[in-house]
Amino acid sequence: MATIYVDESSGSDETGKGTQEAPYQTLAFAIFTHGPTTTILSRKDAATTYEEPTQSALKKAKKGADGLEKKRKKAEELAEREAKEKSEERERKQKLLEESKKIVLSEDSSLPKAIKSKIGNLTPLRAKRVRASGWVHRLRDQNKIIFIVLRDGTGYLQCVLSGQVAQTYEALTLTLESTVELVGTLQPVPEGKTAPGGHELIVDYWKVLGASPGGEDAFTNRLNEKSDPSIQADLRHLVIRGETASAVLKLRAALLSSFRESLVSRDLLEVTPPCMVQTQVEGGATLFKFDYYGQPAFLTQSSQLYLETCLPSLGDVFCVQESFRAENSHTRRHLSEYTHLEAELAFITFDDLMNHIEGVICDTVARLLANPSSAGLIKQLNPNFTAPARPFRRLSYVDAIAWLNEHGIQHEAEDADGNVIRDEQGNPKMVDHAVGDDIAEAAERRMTDILGTPVFLYGFPAELKAFYMKKIQNNGSGPVCTESVDLLMPGVGEIVGGSMRIADTEELFAAYKREGIDPTPYYWFTDQRKYGTCEHGGYGLGVERFLAWLANRYTVRECSLYPRWPGRATP
Ligand code: 4AD
Repeated sequence: MATIYVDESSGSDETGKGTQEAPYQTLAFAIFTHGPTTTILSRKDAATTYEEPTQSALKKAKKGADGLEKKRKKAEELAEREAKEKSEERERKQKLLEESKKIVLSEDSSLPKAIKSKIGNLTPLRAKRVRASGWVHRLRDQNKIIFIVLRDGTGYLQCVLSGQVAQTYEALTLTLESTVELVGTLQPVPEGKTAPGGHELIVDYWKVLGASPGGEDAFTNRLNEKSDPSIQADLRHLVIRGETASAVLKLRAALLSSFRESLVSRDLLEVTPPCMVQTQVEGGATLFKFDYYGQPAFLTQSSQLYLETCLPSLGDVFCVQESFRAENSHTRRHLSEYTHLEAELAFITFDDLMNHIEGVICDTVARLLANPSSAGLIKQLNPNFTAPARPFRRLSYVDAIAWLNEHGIQHEAEDADGNVIRDEQGNPKMVDHAVGDDIAEAAERRMTDILGTPVFLYGFPAELKAFYMKKIQNNGSGPVCTESVDLLMPGVGEIVGGSMRIADTEELFAAYKREGIDPTPYYWFTDQRKYGTCEHGGYGLGVERFLAWLANRYTVRECSLYPRWPGRATP
């Protein structure tokens, strides 16, 4: 038999093999593993030589080996006992399952007729027998009592199953996300306990409508908090079943209703402009093009031009319509498709426009906070939310440039072709802002975060803005500026973009020319100036950005039902 080696300092009983290259650490372990008759050589450390251990060392080691053997036996016994218990438990469960199949529930017709209700409408039905259907949101089995938290979109309901109703095969094999119908008496929760709505359903009859798989394919194996973002994006249809994601979508619905109420109360009429168009609004670079019966067409970037055409027939108007931007922006505030709330107002001044935007936003937020259900959602998602104070701060573009420079907020320098200039290490060269520069997203975000309140940033140079914006008469110094305004919110940045529009036909033709736009397909927009022009203006608000601000979401992607961004149009 080969000689076994022990090195008391560098050897290891865990990873060693008893060879010279990988010695054990203790004599006891060597004897325990290879038996007392093996030849063993041992040394204190690498500075000494391998020698036969002394008799007394061997004696001590044998005792140690006996101890190890006892330990091993004990562990073996324990494992056997556990395996036996497990198999008994399995058998017991199997038997219980078999038994459970014999229990068949039937609804007791002598009980009062159950009233079918959505969870959200249950409160007036306390003490009555009710019937509720939904998805098993949470499931807990405690001393033969099964607690289900049922979800139906209108709310959550705690349901208690005990006795026979908790012993059926369906009860014992129930899984999360299964659909069930539960019938029972609605009772206030016992003192000291809490449950959604303050009541619980004491179930006397129930059935599974659609069982959700368990095991490998169980819901929580498909998706859980640790799932990586790309999986969460693929499984958005399952993500929205979650408490946070669904709360955001509920708040979104409340937000849209609230906006509509605020706008209608200001005599704006809702219209529905087309999504398939043949004109651009915000520049050709972000247009999604498609073939429309052999003609080029686009998905709309903004419904503004159509809203303008409604003024003479319908007065002030608004729409809530999808807008599409083919921007290759992977930021937390850009989507390829977003919900655009746009409004257009006739016979107004630039100041009226800003007052209107501020009024609509504050009114909408006040409505949301006055409604217990939407106020609850805001509290759940953004506990520190406080409504913004009026008036909003107004900062001109020129003053904002000075502010950025005073606060040392620089931007990346670009060469004449628009490429970022980098140093030898590849870091971008940072420079101060100058009047005429675009204020990039990063700088804008830092500014809003430092200011900490909503800010109207107004009067951008015409060069930086869309063709339709009204110019401010200047005294010949500095760039030609526009009656344009962005509303910036802390944490998100720009949420509204608006302006006064060119009302004069000649000025509009000059603007088409400057932007290299062929006026022909815009004949209907131009006619607006020809047949009774008026001073008018409007704005577009990004609903997802507004919601990200209101609900304190990290990205607009959480604020859209099925968000689209570059490379993502599924599900
Ligand atoms: O500033 P924008 O491009 O303005 C317009 O489209 C005007 N025609 C609107 C009008 O005056 N009727 O866009 C308006 C708002 C932005 O402030 C932003 O909130 C949102 O639309 N927005 C986007 N939201 C998400 N993803 C994108 N890619 C967005 N682009 C603009």
